[in-house]
Formats: sequence, structure tokens, C-alpha cells
Amino acid sequence: MVSIRGIYSPSRWTIVLIVLHLGSCIQFQQLDLPGNGNSECALVINGPGRSSHFDYTLNLLRGGGNTDFNGHQTCITYDAVNAAYLDARKRIRVSQPHGDWSPSDVGSVGEVLLDISMNLARTYGLSYEDIEKGLPLIDTSKTLIREICPPFLANVECVAGKYRRFDGLCTNLEHPTWGATNTPFTRLMGPLYSDGMHSPRISGSGRALPPSRVVSRTMHPDEGFHDHAGTVMIIAWGQFIDHDFTLQGTPLDPFSKNDPEECCGRPAHLKHPYCNEIIIPEDDYFYRLWGVKCIDFVRTFPSVRPGCRLGSKVPFNTLTGVLDANTVYGVKETFARKLRSGVGGLLRMNPAFEQYGLKDLLPLKLDYPDEGCTRPNATMYCFEAGEIRVNEQLVLTVMHTLMAREHNRLARGLAEVNPHWDDETLFQEARRINIGIVQHITYNEFLPILLGKDVMEKFGLLLQKDGYWNGYDSSVNPGVIDAFAAAAYRFGHSLLPTAVERWSKAHKFIASKRLSDLIRRPHDLYRAGILDEYVMGLMNQVAQAMDDSITQEVTNHLFKKPGARFGMDLVSFNMQRGREFGLPGYMEFRKFCGLPWTDNFDGLFGAMPNETVRKYSSIFEHPGDVDLWSGGVSERPLPGSMLGPTFACIIATQFSYSRRGDRFWYELPNQPSSFTPPQLQEIRKARLARIICDNTDLIDTIQLYPMVLPDHEINPRVPCRSGVIPSIDLTKWAERPHEQFRFQHGYCFVYRNYNAIDFRHIVIFYVKLLRLLIVLFNARAVIQSFKIKDIFLRLFIKRARHSYRSIHYLRNHPDSHQYHSYTYLYKKAIQCKPQVIEEVGTNIFQTNSLLSFIEVQPQIFPVDFKYALSTVCDNILKRMDC
Ligand code: HEM
Repeated sequence: MVSIRGIYSPSRWTIVLIVLHLGSCIQFQQLDLPGNGNSECALVINGPGRSSHFDYTLNLLRGGGNTDFNGHQTCITYDAVNAAYLDARKRIRVSQPHGDWSPSDVGSVGEVLLDISMNLARTYGLSYEDIEKGLPLIDTSKTLIREICPPFLANVECVAGKYRRFDGLCTNLEHPTWGATNTPFTRLMGPLYSDGMHSPRISGSGRALPPSRVVSRTMHPDEGFHDHAGTVMIIAWGQFIDHDFTLQGTPLDPFSKNDPEECCGRPAHLKHPYCNEIIIPEDDYFYRLWGVKCIDFVRTFPSVRPGCRLGSKVPFNTLTGVLDANTVYGVKETFARKLRSGVGGLLRMNPAFEQYGLKDLLPLKLDYPDEGCTRPNATMYCFEAGEIRVNEQLVLTVMHTLMAREHNRLARGLAEVNPHWDDETLFQEARRINIGIVQHITYNEFLPILLGKDVMEKFGLLLQKDGYWNGYDSSVNPGVIDAFAAAAYRFGHSLLPTAVERWSKAHKFIASKRLSDLIRRPHDLYRAGILDEYVMGLMNQVAQAMDDSITQEVTNHLFKKPGARFGMDLVSFNMQRGREFGLPGYMEFRKFCGLPWTDNFDGLFGAMPNETVRKYSSIFEHPGDVDLWSGGVSERPLPGSMLGPTFACIIATQFSYSRRGDRFWYELPNQPSSFTPPQLQEIRKARLARIICDNTDLIDTIQLYPMVLPDHEINPRVPCRSGVIPSIDLTKWAERPHEQFRFQHGYCFVYRNYNAIDFRHIVIFYVKLLRLLIVLFNARAVIQSFKIKDIFLRLFIKRARHSYRSIHYLRNHPDSHQYHSYTYLYKKAIQCKPQVIEEVGTNIFQTNSLLSFIEVQPQIFPVDFKYALSTVCDNILKRMDC
């Protein structure tokens, strides 16, 4: 047995990774030869297939000697690649969809490529470096592999446009797949798989690592320390942004579409091949009470590298690596269409509280109602949004709702300043602004709290106050880093509270609910007014401290089934995930970040509390074995930051790549997507506080920075209407600024009258709306959930009342802008198609009769001018578009 000290000597332990960083002295020659049906070399490696630095552990792939060694070099021929391909195809079923590629479709191709790579590695006895740096050089377009290579990874042609694609392709024109969906996670350093190819990491000694649950229960108990300043809003925004960046591709249960697949309860031969269950030790303080010995867990799919290149397993990201508000819009054009209403650039919403005059909720999730949702009964539904995990916990659903409302608010505002814009333009422009808002809030409010000013400065993350930022770098890949997704950005799991609080608009505590009762159960939001109370709670409740203590709500009760006494363990997931991703240990990342490497546990004193170091030494053989997530959350935070140096470095690196590598970044000049300088200055006014003020119903006072507790001096509460929290002025988007004012009011008034006066039209309008709802949803659900008759009646009365008020106003203000725009509208209508003229004419005629009606009963409807102006006139705009 080799001594542990010898094995872990820095040179030996780290050399594998250094080789990958610096480029090795080993020379690979890629030969550019046609490869079909010939024995030309696809790859030449120096020397025979041989042992390498990787032999510190069992190299299970190492096979017998190879036949293509000529005494100096080994030649891997195209024929050999083809033979391995044909062999893989005999065992693996590959999907070749015509439309969108799902993660499992991509995974099936990934499996073939991994199988081929393993076959070659075994046949030629490839070393770690050969696998990591040699295999990806083979041009597989010259092999049979090309017949299964997904088109979006084989050859994409980009045209620079104003709006980014949903799937993130063409964010970089030279490397179209960078940052796109279903592409591999990027790596800061080479992977550490126990077999060099895909098996989860083991200890540097070659023995097993402590089971994930042992690390979880030993290192991450629930101590319940609180942060001193951060609110639960950091968690909410943090997770919302996480879901903008990363969702690993894993097999899903085919029926419920809930992950993970069932593994524990099945006999070996019926288990999904990706099962990698979390084993619970017999003596577990919690799970032993319920006889739990195993938790379901599935591994990630192997990815397809761009160009279908070979190599060891790399998991892939089903989202885009850039911040593009895919949480609101999705990552597929087809899905985005489904989320849209098709009118006025608006997203589909659920007018659940229309009768109370409250804002809409997200639409119901009707297609796979159990996907990521625990339903109390079959008539209760979760919500639908751009990202599938919208229902993961109620607080997250709240953030999705706010940002979807913000989109619609922007679309309505843009429609007022640009009445001639069609649905598509309004949607894309509102989306472009909304993305800018998400980017700005993340870098302006969230990251400074998370990372602190020094780290922001060091990694070039500080935003510019004015002018353009010229920092786009086409050599930067904005793809998500594996260590970010599988460990560092999971820092948020440390902040989770045990209970989520609701507060009143007067900033008084109302009640709280256990976090585990809100996970996959956002149904509270169907109670009118409660969304605002949760938002108030987010801004007033202090978050847990960022440390190694994690609430039992997620270490023992995650995804607890109704009535059950236990759930799953998120911390074990984090460890198990890092290992199956092939993430090197915490120590390697310390080194990557310029922090000192240590060969013994004593070297960790200072970096983390003494007790933590002691506990590590009790379960791990060597500091080099410590898992990245565990080590990262245990570090002492940097001054002014919530994070320790290793997580700060990985997260800051990711955010730097995501900004510098995003051709659509909101601060950039000279791109088809660039904002004008005045527009950019408006986006810079975006504040989370303003989003909350504008998109909730009752909240009227708020602290300037909702992710930090209110403070009289540094973070005072101010009224939403005070003007201290700036608003984005959408007139900077007006294409015809001079016409806009008259237009806007004229349209609004005619629209209202139209709906109110012509009863026949109202009936037709509502019948159409009902039909649409029934097509979109299931009729029973619509009727049961919204008491539809009631809503329609109230809607009708409301519309009528508004119209009367408007007319009354017009009547009494013959010199007003509105009166003139009314005439203007008529003139404008004459230029339109005959049926449009007729419609507008009818309105005007009937408006006049209403005016006479109002004349006799003026006192009934007081003027509410402001309210009248706030309505958007989508339908009339559509008809007037001539
Ligand atoms: C109640 C709140 C939360 C719950 C229930 C939750 C649950 C989960 C679960 C089940 C996973 C998948 C684990 C795996 O299979 O590997 C996950 C992944 C993740 N979580 Fe959380 N999480 C929560 C909050 C947060 C927060 C606040 C953050 C960050 C600020 C965060 C960041 C992440 C990241 C980055 C991943 C990896 C995503 C991927 O690539 O698939 N989570 N979380």
C-alpha cells in the first residue's frame, strides 16, 4: 500500500490539473485526412498507450497493449473510431428528433460519444492527458459519427440580429454554441473521475470517500445562525438568477416528469442505468428513525461537445450561460410562444383576482400538472413560467410572478408610446428591456452584497455609471462553469431559513410557514393579497448566515411527500453531484484561486473555524479529498463579502464570463442589440424596489435595497410614490415622439367607449375570451378556479364605468389633449381600410349618444382622469395599424 503522504504530495496530486491548465509537453498531432473507410490516423499519440499521472487510482479503462504502435507513436485510425461507433450503436438507442432537441435526446448522442471514447481509451490504454487533450482533437465529422451529430452542435450559421435567440445560440458569432442550451458545462480544470472517464470521484488514496450523507450530517448540521444584514430577498433573487443560468440535464421520471427517477425501491435489473443512490448509514441520527437506508439520486447525462468531439464525460446545461431572463421567457422559441398571449406583446397570465382589482398571477400549469409540483388534489394546479422549476418553492414563484408582471407592464407602456408596434415588436422590446433590468439589478444590487466591493473590483464586475461599456470579448465563453453549477453557486442552500414569514404592508409580522411546506407547494398564492405579504416578508425577514450550518428543512425534509415525516437531503445531493460531475476537491479550487495548498488538515486553520477543521479530519483521509461545496461554505467570509475566497473567486469568474462573453449585454455599444445612450441611462435606473412597487398591489413603502434589512440611515424605507426610487421612462423608446402623446390618449378613449357602448361587441369580446380560455385551459378548471361568471360580470361593469368616466371628461374638457386626439384619431382612421373606418366611425357615433346620456346624469360617474389614462389599448391599436 502506498503511503497517503506520498500519494498526496502536491506535485503528484495536482500535476494532472496543471497539465491541463498549461498545455502539456505531450504532443498530439491531428491529421487532416479523409476518414471514411480508410486506415488513416485520426489521432497520433506519442509512445505506446501508457500509464500516466492518472494511475494514482485504479484505471479501470486500461486495457491490453494496442496494435497500432510503431515503436514511437500510436495511431488511432478513422476506421477504429468508426468501428467503436458501430459497436456503440448496437447497444445504445439514439434519438434524432426533427424539431427541438430535449435533454434526453442530446444525452442519447452523448452516451454514444462517451462509449466510443471509453472504447478507444481501453483499446489504446490512453492516459489521462490523452483522454482530456487528445481525444477531443479527432475530427469526428470525418467519421460515421456525423450521421448522429445534432445539427445545432454541428453547423450553425448566425446572422447578427437585434434580439437574442431563446436557446442562446449565436450569442457569439464565431463560436455559435458558446453559452447555448444543451451544451457542455465548461471546466476551470480537468475532471477527476475515478476511472478517468465518467465514474464518480473517489479519495486520492484510491479508497472510497466518506458517503455524502456522512459529510452532510457531520459537517452541515442545523445551527440556525442568522445573517446580520441580508434579507431572505437575497435567497429569492439568488435562486431566481440560478435558474437563469443553470439546470443540469438528468433523466426524469417518464410519468410525473419529477426528478429524480426512482432508484432505491427497485431491484438492480430494473434500475435506471443512471441511478447513483445516496446510501444512508445505519446509525444516521434522523433517517434511522424512519428506517430510511437510501435516497434516490440519478446522474447527469453526458453532453455532446460542439462538433461531436470525443473525450471524458462532461455534463451539460439545459439553460443558457448568459443572463437572459429565460426564467420569464423560456429557452425555446416554441415554448416562448406558448407563454405569450399573442396580443400587445403580453405574456399570458391568470386574472384570478380581477374581481378584487388585484394583479394577475402566473398561468396554470396544465400540461404536466405534477411536474415539479406536489398537488393537494387534482383540481389544484401549480404555475407555469419560462423555467420549469418555478414551483420549487413559493418564494421563487413570487419572483417569477413579479418579473412576468414587469414584462407586461413594460409591454403596455411601450404600446402607449408606440401605438403602431405590433405584438412581436412589443414582446421583443419589452423582453429586451426586462433582460437589461435583470442584468442591471444582478450586478448593481445582488453581486455587491454577495461578493463585496473588493471582489467586484478585482474581477471587473463593477458597472459603469454612464456611457457605454466596451467590454465584450469574443474570446470569452459565457457557458456555465461546472464548479459554479455543482458547488459554488449552491452557496444559497446555506442561507435558507427554516420558516418563511409573511409581513403586512405596515411592516408587521403576520405569520410564518415551514420551508418544507412551501417546497413544490406554491398554492398559498391563490389567496388574494397573500403574494404581497410574502414579498413584504422577503424584505423584512433576515436570512440565515452564510456558513456551514444548513436548515433541516432541506437536509432531512426536502421534497417531503404530504403526510410523510421525512424527505430528502439537499446537502447530500450537493456532494453526490460534485463527485459525479468529476469535480476535483476543494483544495484544487483553492489553488486555482491563488490560495495556499495544504497537505495536512492543520493548514486549514484560519481558513475556517477550528471545530470545522477538526470535523473534516475525522471523516476525510486528506484535505485534498474534501468536497468543493462543503469546503466552500465552511470558509470564513472575506471582509465585506458573504462568501469565502474560493466561492467568491468561482462565482466572480462566472459572472465575469457571463458579462464579457455576452454580445447582447445591455451596456454594450455598436451591436444591433445596443440601446441608445438615453435608453441605457433609463435601464440604469432599474431597482428591485421599483419592480416590487410597480408589480404588487398594496405595498406602498419599501427600503431602497430590499436585499438588505431597512436602516434609517443607510437603507431607509421610502414611499413607492416618493420618486426617490427612480422609474424607467419608456418615452425614450418612442419612435415618433411628437405624435405619441396625442395618439395615446385618443386611442384609449375610443377603446373604452367601444367596449362599453356597443353591447353586441362586448358580448362577442367575452365569448371570444371564454373560448380562448377553454382552448388554453381545461374548461372545468377555468370555471372552478375563477368563478368565471362572476368575473365576467364584474369586468363588464368595470369597463362600462370607465367608459362613462372618460366620456364625461371629454365632454367637460373640449380643449384637452384628449379631445383633440379624439378628432385626430378620426382623421387618422380615414387613411385606413374601410372596415376600420367603419368601426371607428361607429364608436364615434355611439360616443356621441353616450355624451348625451352623460349630460343628464353627470353626477353618477366622477372623473378619474389618471385611471383612465393608465389603460392600454391593444385591440384598437391592432385595428388601427394601417
Ligand atoms: C428552498 C430553496 C431551494 C431548494 C428547495 C433547492 C433545491 C435544489 C435541488 C433539489 C437541486 C438539485 C440538486 C441536484 O440534483 O444536484 C438544486 C440545485 C441547485 N441549487 Fe438549489 N435549492 C434552493 C435554493 C437555492 C438557492 C437560494 C440557490 C442560490 C442562490 C440555489 C442554487 C442552486 C444551484 C446553482 C443548483 C444547481 C442547478 C443545476 O445546475 O441543475 N438553490 N437546488
